Amino acid sequence: MCELVICTIQTITLTNEKAALSFEKKLIMKNICIASFVVLMLVVTTGCGSNPPQAANDSKPAAESGESIYKRTCITCHQANGAGLPNSFPPLAKSDYLADKVKTIGQVIKGSSGDIVVNGNKFNNAMPAQTLSDEEIAAVLTYVYSSFGNSGAPVTVGEVKDARTKL
Ligand code: HEC
Repeated sequence: MCELVICTIQTITLTNEKAALSFEKKLIMKNICIASFVVLMLVVTTGCGSNPPQAANDSKPAAESGESIYKRTCITCHQANGAGLPNSFPPLAKSDYLADKVKTIGQVIKGSSGDIVVNGNKFNNAMPAQTLSDEEIAAVLTYVYSSFGNSGAPVTVGEVKDARTKL
């Protein structure tokens, strides 16, 4: 493909040279042709060089990050900064509820409705059960625990599986 483009450019350069009448014209034409040839060469080489290798398409897509799962599923209620919304959505930021990992994992798996007290503030609303895989729950909760000023404790897939048996 690249060779073909270069060949075409060379042919055009030659044709232009033949068409030029006087020596001066020929010289100017030649210079213009060489200049445009150099520019085109640059475009062609950089263009061809940036083609990604085919193998990249065959590899498996990377697992979704906890942050992106949070943005996709939790952010609408618990907000980008994890502070929730007063009287509606409890905070995840420095939430005392997170001290109990099993309960926290259960909250994501089952959701809840009715009275809940977080950091001394009462909420009475409903959180739907989240349809996430164990891997996704581990990733999103690891993100929650390591963000918003929280403890930084990781949540493993094993802990999620374990919590399921206790619900
Ligand atoms: C539709 C809104 C909504 C979504 C989406 C949502 N939650 Fe909730 N969440 C709530 C509400 C409302 C409560 C309190 C429910 C109650 O009153 O029983 C709550 C409670 C919680 C609690 C326990 C209380 C606290 O604030 O610490 C945790 C932990 C939690 N949610 C985590 C999550 C995570 C993680 C996600 C995303 C995977 C998520 N929630 C998605 C609305 C939502």
